[in-house]
Amino acid sequence: MGRIDSFLKDRQKKDLLRSLRPATGRSDGRIFFNDRGLVDFSSNDYLGLSNHPRLKAASHKALEDFGTGSSASRLLSGSLDIHHELEKRIASFKGKEAALVFNSGYQANTGIISSLCGRGDVIFCDRLSHASIIDGMLLSQARFIRFEHNDMEDLKFFLERERANYREALIITETVFSMDGDIAPLGELVRLKDLYNCKLMVDEAHAMGIFGPNGSGQVGAEGLTERVDLIMGTFSKAMGSFGAYIASSKETIEYLVNACRSFIYSTALPPAVIAANIESLNLVKDEPQRRELLLLNADYLREALKGIGLNVRGASQICPLIVGANSRAIELSNRLMERGYWALPIRTPTVPEGEARLRFSLTYGHTIDVLKGLVNDIRSIYKV
Ligand SMILES: Cc1ncc(COP(=O)(O)O)c(C=O)c1O
Repeated sequence: MGRIDSFLKDRQKKDLLRSLRPATGRSDGRIFFNDRGLVDFSSNDYLGLSNHPRLKAASHKALEDFGTGSSASRLLSGSLDIHHELEKRIASFKGKEAALVFNSGYQANTGIISSLCGRGDVIFCDRLSHASIIDGMLLSQARFIRFEHNDMEDLKFFLERERANYREALIITETVFSMDGDIAPLGELVRLKDLYNCKLMVDEAHAMGIFGPNGSGQVGAEGLTERVDLIMGTFSKAMGSFGAYIASSKETIEYLVNACRSFIYSTALPPAVIAANIESLNLVKDEPQRRELLLLNADYLREALKGIGLNVRGASQICPLIVGANSRAIELSNRLMERGYWALPIRTPTVPEGEARLRFSLTYGHTIDVLKGLVNDIRSIYKV
């Protein structure tokens, strides 16, 4: 197969060939490979909920009550009452009329965007948006325009030039950016979307559970729930489980149930996952200290790395240390691995050329002593 051979050779040449490594366990901010435990900075289990006894108990109970699978897609016989209960809970958590659960964030974004937009429409999307958003736009066949990251002047320029040429228009952004850890200017986004008659969809994958009242997300934190048309989020990161959702108007949800192919043509999430998701909503409300400590620790790490002259970004639990070339990111990651840290390099094409990085993704299991040790280790092995 020429295509496979040339792809693999090309990736190898550019230091971009990736492979899977089987971990044998995870707990308290560490990942285990047989006997060796490393501090895990590559996990999105931000609040450390994936091993929480309450989540596990909720899953066990649903497993006993309903069995392992949900047996069909939602529109056939896979729509159990707990799927509906979860959707009601999400709608009230997010302050929207209704919500719909998806099997993953990837399926949510690809399905929702491609059913809301089509030929003759236009999508304006932040340049750093996640691959699932890009794939949704490609699938939609709408024209799409990527504005510079968080640059509202650039967005306004494109809206002014292009909006009038298309029927429907959607603006899409993440609220907390997965690779840069920074936050979208939501106030300006809602102003522009009103001014240019667009809908606004946000992806709260990395804000859910961390920001806002009871961890409901960044839209809630800024009091903009009514002005954002579609709020997408996931249970696969801070909530310690799996699956995703969209919260919006009743009509939009009814439309998606009838039109969204990634929702319609996939078996419903298993009851044990749904039950864990419901319990995760209770937990983020009951244990606010998890997100408070996490954000304090992230501030500490960012300031400490800046203090030793490094280029670190973000304003959240995600602290990316920008190192430049792919090879530098790989080397630093390997050196840190020797010292007991699992911090994987993030390279092109996931991030722009020349912005390879180590994305330190902090979780509740990382104590301040661990972070101090990390800063000392980076200081001694990394040359700017
Ligand atoms: C911003 C963003 N959206 C969507 C997704 C996809 O979510 P999931 O992992 O649940 O498919 C991710 C996760 O990688 C993400 O970072």
